[in-house]
Amino acid sequence: MKTKFFNKAMFLLMVCVCAVLLTSCGNKDGNTSSGQTETTRSSTQQEQKSESDKKDETKEDISAPETSDTNSKAEDITEGTKNNTLVVCFSRTGNTEKIAKHLTELTGADEYVIEAAVPYTDDDIKYQDDNCRANQEQNDKTVRPAIANPIASIDGYDTVFLGYPIWWGQEPRIIDTFLESYDFSDKTVIPFCTSGSSSIETSERNIKELVTIGNQLEGRRFPAGASKDDVKEWYDTLPLNEENKDMKLKLSVNGTELTATLEDNSSAQALTELLKQGDITVDMSDYGGFEKVGDLPQSLPRNDERITTVPGDIILYEGSKITIYYAENTWNFTKLGHIDNIQQEELKAILSDGDVTVTLSN
Ligand SMILES: Cc1cc2nc3c(=O)[nH]c(=O)nc-3n(C[C@H](O)[C@H](O)[C@H](O)COP(=O)(O)O)c2cc1C
Repeated sequence: MKTKFFNKAMFLLMVCVCAVLLTSCGNKDGNTSSGQTETTRSSTQQEQKSESDKKDETKEDISAPETSDTNSKAEDITEGTKNNTLVVCFSRTGNTEKIAKHLTELTGADEYVIEAAVPYTDDDIKYQDDNCRANQEQNDKTVRPAIANPIASIDGYDTVFLGYPIWWGQEPRIIDTFLESYDFSDKTVIPFCTSGSSSIETSERNIKELVTIGNQLEGRRFPAGASKDDVKEWYDTLPLNEENKDMKLKLSVNGTELTATLEDNSSAQALTELLKQGDITVDMSDYGGFEKVGDLPQSLPRNDERITTVPGDIILYEGSKITIYYAENTWNFTKLGHIDNIQQEELKAILSDGDVTVTLSN
């Protein structure tokens, strides 16, 4: 009886031992072969990292160059390119993206919104904090934040609008990452930005110095809430097609090169035709504390109407005199065009106080 009980007990014990062994083997296999289990474990370990470790990681992320890893996620939007034009933008709080949307609607172009591989959190852009990520990046010209969704190629595009917010007077470093990732040597690039108040100029210079661009057009800064009409007004002045190219005028004033957009009238057309024969140099003198005026080599057709000038207006006076206005005046004369993207103070400084020699060309 005792032996029988002993045998039964031994059998049960053996069954239990085998069951335990089998289960533990099964677990072992699960741990080594299941990625899921490993991942869970490593993410738990990650969560347990100390705060200082996390800070170090952030530092690495800031200076981390583009990795080949991100290329595998490249967006292929070059299929079926529209108008050979691409509107690219990076926008953290949506202002620049709104301008980009207006542009894509106006141009029918493709749109590409750059996303950071490590997204910018609200804390990352708290510019009041010297140590926030955006400030650290802007303080270091070599930082190239990785892009989460790089496009495979820009070969199908001739024209690239490039939009960004101004961060500490410049383009965010992720824009530099984008620029250095492609060949722009045969592209027309047109920067645009939004900002609280800073101009686009420093970023335009940075872009010019950073990469070779076939033709970098003058950019435009917009305030955050700029309307589609504001964007259209600018877009219509761009020399992107033959018609607009003809309607541009170059002015060289005391060594400063300016461009102007000509009016759509017979006077401006006649001036354009005249300039096809060669550049025209006009000696201009100051008049009335609001304009510089000089004689054209020949008269142009008049389209006189009562106009109140604004700084930058180029006016045909009595058919034979050309004037550049740096202040307001109301008179009956013909508008020939307007100097692009110039403020009154800047124009006054370029024109100086006295006489000035201006060379006009197409
Ligand atoms: C880190 C940081 C720096 C900024 N620096 C400037 C600046 O130097 N000048 C300026 O006018 N606005 C500055 N701004 C304001 C932004 O340019 C402005 O809010 C812009 O419209 C944001 O565009 P987004 O919504 O496309 O990101 C800065 C904003 C941030 C977050």
